[in-house]
Amino acid sequence: MPALVIRQFGAAADVLGLDCEPMAQVGLGEVRVRILAAPINPADLNWIDGTYGTRPILPATPGTEAVGEVIESNATALTVGTRVIFLSYAHGWQTQRVVRAEELLAVPADLPVSDLAMLKVNPATAWRILHDFVALRPGAVVVQNAANSGVGRCVIQIAHALGLRTINMVRQQALADELRACGADLVCGDDETGKEEALSYLRALGARASLALNAVGGESALRQLDLLEEAATQVTYGAMGRRSLTIPNKFLIFRDIRFRGFWLTHWLARASPSERGETYASLLDLLRQGKLQQPVDSMHPLDSFRQALLRINASDRNGKILFVPTEGTGCGI
Ligand SMILES: NC(=O)c1ccc[n+]([C@@H]2O[C@H](COP(=O)([O-])OP(=O)(O)OC[C@H]3O[C@@H](n4cnc5c(N)ncnc54)[C@H](OP(=O)(O)O)[C@@H]3O)[C@@H](O)[C@H]2O)c1
Repeated sequence: MPALVIRQFGAAADVLGLDCEPMAQVGLGEVRVRILAAPINPADLNWIDGTYGTRPILPATPGTEAVGEVIESNATALTVGTRVIFLSYAHGWQTQRVVRAEELLAVPADLPVSDLAMLKVNPATAWRILHDFVALRPGAVVVQNAANSGVGRCVIQIAHALGLRTINMVRQQALADELRACGADLVCGDDETGKEEALSYLRALGARASLALNAVGGESALRQLDLLEEAATQVTYGAMGRRSLTIPNKFLIFRDIRFRGFWLTHWLARASPSERGETYASLLDLLRQGKLQQPVDSMHPLDSFRQALLRINASDRNGKILFVPTEGTGCGI
């Protein structure tokens, strides 16, 4: 069975290889899932280089999330043919996986495979960070950096559907029209000029932001703080800039800003099955109504993994890169 595998930690281009793995038997309470699509997320690259919040025992197959189809079942809860996403770590960059039924969530088969493959992580992160930290009333303002990212685009669309306003700081201002079309209220540069634009927008509104969402760190995270109202919250959920957050004392003493972190892995582990079910049901509703779209840059069979990895830093990349594991895959590259 073809599977992408790492045998040591390092840059994905150096340590990822395509192997033939033995097929596991389906035990009681388990199902065999044929994996239809699995994206490459920043977390996967950190998992591969050993800097993520969890480190796998090697050798291991990466892939935080995936969508698949049950092709063999030894569990009453899931019948053959059911479309599923993995709520546990998916190890999705392979053609098949045997997994306990309770680690899966049944999803509608009539929604696009790419949307379902990207449902578990970024939409749920956006949904939870908009709900779990501040009680946001319609019209409240949320500011975020890396606003063109997968999570950022989900935040824009979910916030828009909830009647919230978003200030979206980006490095590439050429994307402004595209983000406004998703529902962004203001798109500005992630620099001092952009901050001044955001301050003018807030002055005109007569308000300040209640929630800041930080996926970058360093100076970018600090810029958000000047836009916040007293006692507002900044949630850090990513560290794309790889710079620590050094907080000037004034934000704690005079402004009472609250600093929190979010990790979906913890949320999934701590949430009850009904809380998880409600979150994904809300997101599936938005998907079905066309109110939650995640662009796809390209789709690759496993044996084209080198081309897929090259697309990650391509200057013209616009959207997620996905593996479609069962399409035309051989072993041993
Ligand atoms: N805590 C959680 O549970 C959770 C869940 C999901 C995602 N995340 C994190 O959220 C972040 C975004 O994930 P994603 O899947 O949405 O990413 P993505 O779609 O791949 O987008 C990456 C984003 O990061 C920006 N970026 C890349 N390098 C940067 C740098 N050096 N400085 C500033 N910005 C930089 C990119 O901006 P350009 O387009 O300008 O390059 C782009 O906006 C990642 O850190 C990811 O690990 C966390």
